[in-house]
Amino acid sequence: MSVAHAPIDGSRFPHKHLLGIEGLSPDEITLLLDLSETYVEQNRRPDKKQSVLRGRTLINLFFETSTRTRTSFELAGKRLGGDVINISVSDSAIKKGETLMDTAMTLNAMHADVLVVRHPFSGGVALLAQKVNCSVINAGDGSHEHPTQALLDALTIRRRKGRLAGLTVAICGDVMHSRVARSNIHLLNTMGARVRIVAPPTLVPGQADRLGVEVFTEMAPGIADCDIVMMLRLQSERMSGSFVPSMREYFHFWGLDYEKLRAAKTEALIMHPGPMNRGVEIDSEVADDVGRSLIHEQVEMGVAVRMACLETLAGRLPSLAENDGDTSG
Ligand code: NCD
Repeated sequence: MSVAHAPIDGSRFPHKHLLGIEGLSPDEITLLLDLSETYVEQNRRPDKKQSVLRGRTLINLFFETSTRTRTSFELAGKRLGGDVINISVSDSAIKKGETLMDTAMTLNAMHADVLVVRHPFSGGVALLAQKVNCSVINAGDGSHEHPTQALLDALTIRRRKGRLAGLTVAICGDVMHSRVARSNIHLLNTMGARVRIVAPPTLVPGQADRLGVEVFTEMAPGIADCDIVMMLRLQSERMSGSFVPSMREYFHFWGLDYEKLRAAKTEALIMHPGPMNRGVEIDSEVADDVGRSLIHEQVEMGVAVRMACLETLAGRLPSLAENDGDTSG
């Protein structure tokens, strides 16, 4: 087992939970990104195992489906040497009618150290965090926040462009229903990037003017001269009623293809948090363009970022040395 770096100074990140990007300082975001960077290299080595979470229990509690986020939290926890349990709604007592709070209290009684929670309601994860003793990481709550996604996006951008400040980033598509968009807007604004949202008028969030972004309702002017074009999935599961005319028409006006991409800088890079709807918000050729698409890199960065977040929150836990000499069982 190898150790990537010296222990981090807990006073630099004085938070018990990671519920959102809103409210984090530039220093706190930089701390998490710098720590993630050490894990990128570590994760490319044959021996990926660390002992930072040895003796700790991480529970992934997912009330919504997930591939990337759940798997990468699981890998992150295991690579740090922790014990990881995954619970999804389909195989839990929630199916039998148990409330969110009862589930939380049950897991609390099992002495989890970190709970990673995804929930369909905005604010659902924060509510749960008030009831448990352990640290909680928001893995996406409704259309509110998805902090680790914004961190992994920032790490991906920073590695490619060398900085975040001064870049122009266009976040395009279903911004209204996207927690990825909200967390990215907070992070990029905090770090000094210029953020645009580009969406059909029906999918521009209500308080867009208060988000500190420029709003565009057409792709060409929206992505003109951008450094990064971040596409979002059309979140049909969060739509009540009809927000777009038809998938075909949506792709025609809002889907990213080479023709629309011509408006951006020639060196502009493309991102998408996944899962992608090919032919709806993004053309397959663009998504698979290894020269311009960062989509696979985003997934790779996801594991490193989640390791950094777990390590940072675990740093607040009582030291394992406190168990020494305790034979009471
Ligand atoms: C995103 C999510 O769940 O919010 N996916 C992810 O975490 N990679 C985006 C989405 O579902 O469209």
